[in-house]
Amino acid sequence: MPTREWKFVVPEIVFGPGCSDRAGRFAGNLGMERALVVSDPGVIAAGWTRLVLESLSRTGIETVLFDRVSPNPRDVEVMLGADVFREKGCDGIVAVGGGSPMDCAKGIGLVAGTGRHVLAFEGVDKVDAPSPPLVCVPTTSGSSADVSQFAIILDTVREVKIAIVSKALVPDVALVDPVLTTTMSPSLTVNTGLDALTHAMEAYVSSVHQPLTDHLAIEAVRLVAANLEKARDHPNDPLARENMMLGSMYAGLAFSNAILGAVHAMAHALGGLLDLPHGLCNAILMDHVAAANYPAAPKRYQAIGRAMGAAIPEDVGGSLGRELVVAAMTAFKKRLGAVVSLGELGVTRAHLADLARAAAADPCLATNPRPLAVEDITAIYEQAL
Ligand SMILES: [Fe+2]
Repeated sequence: MPTREWKFVVPEIVFGPGCSDRAGRFAGNLGMERALVVSDPGVIAAGWTRLVLESLSRTGIETVLFDRVSPNPRDVEVMLGADVFREKGCDGIVAVGGGSPMDCAKGIGLVAGTGRHVLAFEGVDKVDAPSPPLVCVPTTSGSSADVSQFAIILDTVREVKIAIVSKALVPDVALVDPVLTTTMSPSLTVNTGLDALTHAMEAYVSSVHQPLTDHLAIEAVRLVAANLEKARDHPNDPLARENMMLGSMYAGLAFSNAILGAVHAMAHALGGLLDLPHGLCNAILMDHVAAANYPAAPKRYQAIGRAMGAAIPEDVGGSLGRELVVAAMTAFKKRLGAVVSLGELGVTRAHLADLARAAAADPCLATNPRPLAVEDITAIYEQAL
């Protein structure tokens, strides 16, 4: 089959223990004199925001802290942050935290750069003006918003999470420091790690996967499968944390360029309607979506199962192949203690119609390996109840 055209976008990446301490130097390289530092109360309490603020101060950069960021960041928080950016005369943004502060920071940049409402950018390639410079310092190994062209923002009126996908959202610099993940609780480690695993899986089976994303995605599956339990049980194990951060970053680079699929479309719907944790939603849905998608990409799902350590014969047939792949995913979730049904999170049958409608409209569904109609999506939600 002839190669179709593909492209790959990536920020400047610095990876390694301690590299977050150089935030000031990199912000200075981008011409920042007064940075809006976007973080959240949990990350501030862990002490990581202070380290970055001190690094910025050491290089003579003034700082304005903005921490009004919820899990599942809201449109109103983005607009408030953009007001602060403008009122305080900031000229760049430094995000310190997990996916929520980083996505909020991206939204603030869009609004600050254009003067428009953040919801105006919903969808793919809707950004037509540059944003202020952005440095991201991730504190989880999961979202990979620090390397991606995605921002997910909660539309508080419609109660849906919107996806903004644009090359303009790729940060200028990602300072990927595994040390900053050592304060994550076991449950946050598991949920964010399963988010990373889902990024890798969905990128690998995406209808627009390409050679670079393939290499990154399958290695990300291997790294997360081999290190997530260790990172949960030994939070200060430097190698486990480094491997998880590397796996998460590979997964982020893969999904940023190959986009995602039905797990994320359906998880976004759950986060929008019921404000549920993103990683947890992905974890619950992952094997149910794999069962539905398998016939569209059997070889690719088998490769994912093998990268997770499952013994799947090369010549395995249809239904057995699907069983082995799905069993590998379910067993991995069980080992991590992450298995909960949607019902346990308060999802009921009465929610399913709204959820399925929202998921069907999510741009992530466009690259799922097979088309899914509203009724297919409803059936998957039902299985996960
Ligand atoms: Fe995700």
